[in-house]
Amino acid sequence: MTPFVGRNKELKILIDGMNAAKSGNGRMYFIAGETGVGKTRLIEEFAKICEESGVRTITVKCVTEKYVPYFPIKQILEKLTDIKYDTLDTLPLGLTVTTGDVSAELDRLKEATRTRTMILERFLRFFEKITEKETVFVALDDIQLADSGTLSFIHYLSRNIAHMHMLFAGTYPLEHALENSPVINTIRNINIERNCTILKLEPFNIDETGKLVYAIMNTWKVPEKAIGEIYEKTGGLPLYIEELCRAIVGQESVQDFYEFLKFGELEIPAHIKNLILLRVDKLDEDAKQVLRWCAVLGKTFNYRILKEICALEETQLLDAIEHLMAEGYIREIPNEDEVYSFTHTAIIDAVYSKILTPRRKLMHKRAGELIEKHFGSDVKYGGEIGKHYIASGDFEKGFRYFLNAAENALNNYAMEDCIQMLDEMERILPEITKGLEDDIAHNDMLKRYYLLNGNCKSCISDFDGAIASYENALRLETDVLAKANLTVKIAMNYLSKGMFEKALAILTEMSEKIPENAYLERSNVLGCMGMCYEKIGDFTRAVDYYAKSLELCKRLDNEIALASAYHRMGTGMCFSGDLKSGKEFLEKALEIRKRHNLKREIAGTYNNLGIIYTYLCDLDKAIECYTAAKKIYEEIGDLSGVSTAYNNIAGIYSMMGNHERAIELAKSDLEISRRTGNKHYEMYALAGIGHEYFEMKEFDRAMENFQKAMELGKEIGEKRMVSSITGQIALMHAMKGNFVEAYKLIEDAISLGRETGFWDVLAELLTGKGTILQIDKKFEEAEDCFLQALQIYRETDAEESAMSVNFELARLYIDMGRKNEAKAILEEVLAYYTKLNIKSMIEKINKELELLSKTNP
Ligand SMILES: Nc1ncnc2c1ncn2[C@@H]1O[C@H](COP(=O)(O)OP(=O)(O)OP(=O)(O)O)[C@@H](O)[C@H]1O
Ligand SMILES: [Mg+2]
Repeated sequence: MTPFVGRNKELKILIDGMNAAKSGNGRMYFIAGETGVGKTRLIEEFAKICEESGVRTITVKCVTEKYVPYFPIKQILEKLTDIKYDTLDTLPLGLTVTTGDVSAELDRLKEATRTRTMILERFLRFFEKITEKETVFVALDDIQLADSGTLSFIHYLSRNIAHMHMLFAGTYPLEHALENSPVINTIRNINIERNCTILKLEPFNIDETGKLVYAIMNTWKVPEKAIGEIYEKTGGLPLYIEELCRAIVGQESVQDFYEFLKFGELEIPAHIKNLILLRVDKLDEDAKQVLRWCAVLGKTFNYRILKEICALEETQLLDAIEHLMAEGYIREIPNEDEVYSFTHTAIIDAVYSKILTPRRKLMHKRAGELIEKHFGSDVKYGGEIGKHYIASGDFEKGFRYFLNAAENALNNYAMEDCIQMLDEMERILPEITKGLEDDIAHNDMLKRYYLLNGNCKSCISDFDGAIASYENALRLETDVLAKANLTVKIAMNYLSKGMFEKALAILTEMSEKIPENAYLERSNVLGCMGMCYEKIGDFTRAVDYYAKSLELCKRLDNEIALASAYHRMGTGMCFSGDLKSGKEFLEKALEIRKRHNLKREIAGTYNNLGIIYTYLCDLDKAIECYTAAKKIYEEIGDLSGVSTAYNNIAGIYSMMGNHERAIELAKSDLEISRRTGNKHYEMYALAGIGHEYFEMKEFDRAMENFQKAMELGKEIGEKRMVSSITGQIALMHAMKGNFVEAYKLIEDAISLGRETGFWDVLAELLTGKGTILQIDKKFEEAEDCFLQALQIYRETDAEESAMSVNFELARLYIDMGRKNEAKAILEEVLAYYTKLNIKSMIEKINKELELLSKTNP
């Protein structure tokens, strides 16, 4: 290898980063620059420095050949720990259960981003643990080739690296084609969040060019003038300088050397390609053959495959490989057994372009067959084998392998990779449907494809795409039970679109076709109908259907599905106001789920039990449930779950009047939201903290938090939250006697609230406006506002909210001296809350009633 030249500035920055990482302030760097400028070389050079100063160093190259989610991350972890790659493949606990419960499965898909966060968190915890003991430098070369899972991990890491003994560097080329690509978007976001430093490498200047030239051609006397010409021809790009110098070294004399420099009037890249080919031409036949095969196999390739694919004796092959390595074409990948890679894509491109198309097809076919023979059963190689078959013209086989790889990607919640492969499959779809319409195996494959495509589209909330794809599968399907499952999936997507009637219609039609004894499918369809009614707000009907679905589940020998049915039933009953029965059903679900150790599901049930206990005003019990849920979520790394649990517990402390504790919890929530980068949760946490300070009448602090929440809300376009917070700020101004500002803000909030179309926000804001007017002693206008809010709640059957507005109205009537009206309302409200047994409200109402009876004997 040629001696290292220049790059002092960049090395200094990286070394500063290394020292920071050593003291626990980890850093992330991206090294960018055009192809051949020296990105890879820079990290190699820096890696040496790290190792010399006792920093453990891992370098991994990303490669296109393998569409495997998190591949590089797993490779790094495998190198850093004793954990084997394949055990890293298992998903976090509680994720792999399949119950035959179609809607639950789809729900899981819809929560894909949340689940992905769990996976990312799990990886992060590995890194945190390793870097507790030693400082580690991780370099990922060519991250433009990384899968989307890996990119999201890099993003996740960037938010957390600052407190770790870790240094991370990624390289990527600056190319037009990459604009708006996933990698550029990821880095842009990390950069906006100020969690990285981007180092852009420039080509060499003339001095550096000279140094490199002298270093390569050490026995040659290179005239000063020639350096200038080399600099001009290569633009100072180290890769080109090297190639040019190597070609010159092949010349006989200085005279030829000058002739050579005049060679080719071509533009640089084409020129370089010619230079490369010229040099390749001088290789012996064996080496040339090996190089061609390498180009077909891709940027990295396995020695075993190469050995079988070339018609060469092993010693000859080894000679050829050594020769190619000495000439700088290929190199061994460190720490990996018998895997080689090309030093440059430019070389692959050049060599590959010289292979004739028919021969290419043959070579890809052979490559596909061999990799299939050795690694065909390993899903990691699915994408690679698929690519070779497609390139060889065997679309059917290629499609099949892609299908496996894409399914694997989705199972690992790497949606973008799945989509990428699905796109490729869609492209070749016409090729494989020709003349095979009646073939059963072929039909099955297509059904699988449409099903996967539908699942993937559901995952990314492309509901129309999902429906269309499931319908394609439905058309090919003849089995009525499979049809039932597909119908549930279609219905769930209509539900997500808010098309309840449509969803109900197709489910009803389907339910009539399913045979009596197909309990599982019937139960799925009826359960889904229950969900439709729940979404419409018809809880009585919803519970009816849940009950039917539950009865069918009981006849199945499938406890896990039964538990889901209990859970659904209990939750439905809770919404329909039958808290006691709801609790019993949830407890049944809990018992089964515990027996099967379904962690995530247990946490889900605990959470809903917490809600019931809150309604029942058994606050200690509620806290107990939420805390149990939180513990499980923490264990399995489901930070969204942890966040929700914190939120719920904080809400209870707030109800109990313990605002300090509520704030403390909300702050933990805030910290987690920042860790996961969930801006929605971050905003809710900030608003929650603001609200607590508001209750404590610490208006400045409240304002500060509200303001931050608002900023976030505006950034992510959450109008609902922005309007609601504006309302609270308005109220605060009114309480300080600052009415001008209060009225202005509340009007802003209301018009924004109307824009959002959420009736509950609007009603909440109208109530707020009423309170402001009441404080300002404009009682008639206040009454008008309360009545408007009340009407909205009544129209939408939001009974509890209506009651709370009624309570405000009663207090207003007290202020207005309309005591009889106030009394009547208070009694109605009291009866309602007594029925629900909500103690905190009962207390408040009784207090008002007492005051009334004192002043009005
Ligand atoms: N600072 C340097 N000193 C000496 N040689 C260098 C230097 N930088 C790059 N080179 C040489 O130039 C060639 C190209 O460099 P490198 O592979 O690092 O480029 P790259 O930016 O990673 O390109 P790509 O985008 O294709 O991955 C290599 O053979 C490398 O050894
Ligand atoms: Mg490189």
